[in-house]
Amino acid sequence: MPIVKIHKDEKCFEQHVEKNVNLVVQAGIKKFPFPHLKYKCGMGTCGTCASIIISGAKNIDEPNWKEIKILKEKIKLGYRLTCQFRVSKDLEIKQDI
Ligand code: FES
Repeated sequence: MPIVKIHKDEKCFEQHVEKNVNLVVQAGIKKFPFPHLKYKCGMGTCGTCASIIISGAKNIDEPNWKEIKILKEKIKLGYRLTCQFRVSKDLEIKQDI
């Protein structure tokens, strides 16, 4: 099972997750360290779940059109919309916005 680490407010929250889960869905059904993951729409339109990928970026799919539209140049800095990808291997992210 993949391990997900979320850095937020100078703390790190860590938990095993099922393979191929979406973290926003997990947070919504309270199966992830909630409320440490910030999100709102869950549909790639609000940008609230934007996170920078610290490690494991190569283990997730390429950004989709919604991420490209919302994040713009932040994609090049390593930001992703957490509601738009699934986790299949270890991942470390930070929410600082
Ligand atoms: S929760 Fe709104 S874009 Fe991800």
